[in-house]
Amino acid sequence: MKRTIVKMPGDGIGKVVLEETIRVLNAAGFEADYVKGDIGWKFWCSEGNPLPQRTLDLLEKHKVGLFGAITSKPKDEAFEELSPELKEKGLVYSSPIVGLRQHFGLDICLRPCKTYKGNPLNFIRRGPGGTIEEPEVDVAIFRQNTEGLYGGVEWSNPPTEVYNALMTHPKFRKNFGHAPKEEISVSTRIFTKNATERILRAAFEHAKKYSYKTVTVCEKPNVIRETSGMMYKMAQQIQKADYPDIELWNTNIDAQMMWLTKNPENYGVIVAGNMFGDIVSDGFAGLIGGLGFASSAQVNPETGIGVFEPTHGSAPKYADYPTSIVNPIAMVESACMMLDFIDEQDIAKKIRKAVAEVVAEGKVRTYDMAKLSGNPDVIGKGAVSTQEMANAIIEKL
Ligand code: NAI
Ligand code: MG
Repeated sequence: MKRTIVKMPGDGIGKVVLEETIRVLNAAGFEADYVKGDIGWKFWCSEGNPLPQRTLDLLEKHKVGLFGAITSKPKDEAFEELSPELKEKGLVYSSPIVGLRQHFGLDICLRPCKTYKGNPLNFIRRGPGGTIEEPEVDVAIFRQNTEGLYGGVEWSNPPTEVYNALMTHPKFRKNFGHAPKEEISVSTRIFTKNATERILRAAFEHAKKYSYKTVTVCEKPNVIRETSGMMYKMAQQIQKADYPDIELWNTNIDAQMMWLTKNPENYGVIVAGNMFGDIVSDGFAGLIGGLGFASSAQVNPETGIGVFEPTHGSAPKYADYPTSIVNPIAMVESACMMLDFIDEQDIAKKIRKAVAEVVAEGKVRTYDMAKLSGNPDVIGKGAVSTQEMANAIIEKL
């Protein structure tokens, strides 16, 4: 049966990388119909909703979505750009991608970071005697995607009942009790046992399935005792009961960022809450080529709903170039994760091999790989366009 994929190009370069990726999927023999899901800034401005109900309905029906990127802007600017007839309606902008995650409970986010041989952007470091080492990174980062610091439970000048509740905590009274209520902003970091267990189990399962030797909880349990502490304690229990052959490591997010450049090759699966997962995945992505290579999957294994997207945003600066210069590989890789999710691993493998060959050969490089600063004239300086990179991948296929 032919699949239907909901394609959500969104804004800016999201539109370009998604179309090029669909060309690659077609060339690889993936047979699917694509329906377009409206999402992004345009729909905020014209309808007051960047994530219209019709898009949610499409995803509910077809389950699997490919997402490009969206543009978000601060509250005031969002209001400014709202269509005049909507300005009186008291609408408040919120990110549609965060909305998608929460609406469908896409709480498992996987961001793999694996070195491509021959990528000029690979991290290198000095070894003994001044030698140059290029460590091979192969980590899979599991980020809890719906809770924690990005859960959206926050206030400036909190309501009285919230303030009073906070005042019952001795540390709040001591450290913040002197500040006027109006001058206090609070962003909460809430973890639930259920969601924490789901992300931990997803991480351990992945380690088992792909033979990673370690799972590292990357939080800060010594300081953030309740949330990080709960996650680490649960990880210990799960490892002991169900995954005795996988080693459990425990790192602090700050130290982990320092160790990134010291021993990135030592890590396997990494698991963290929402914000630390976001941070540590960008850190590792920097070692394997940066935003042009960073892909992600966000899934709800129970409903079978998944949205696959590059980690990068809409890069507005490059959105209107007559010839697009951005790297489509992050989006192509995200599509490969979609293929894995819907049991089309053979096609995913073929595409990954084609991308690896193009990168290793080194003849075709987008501006980021060519280490040029992003300008329209990079094409004349030896970089290829987004489309030419997709063509090169298709040629290998
Ligand atoms: P960004 O990821 O859009 O761009 C940052 C820089 O990274 C770009 O200027 C470019 O130099 C580079 N870059 C990004 N994608 C690239 C690619 N495929 N190939 C080569 N280079 C690439 O992040 P920025 O500038 O912070 O945000 C721009 C807009 O995107 C904002 O409105 C932001 O809210 C939104 N955004 C959306 C995300 C999403 O849709 N999931 C994620 C991050 C940002
Ligand atoms: Mg991020």
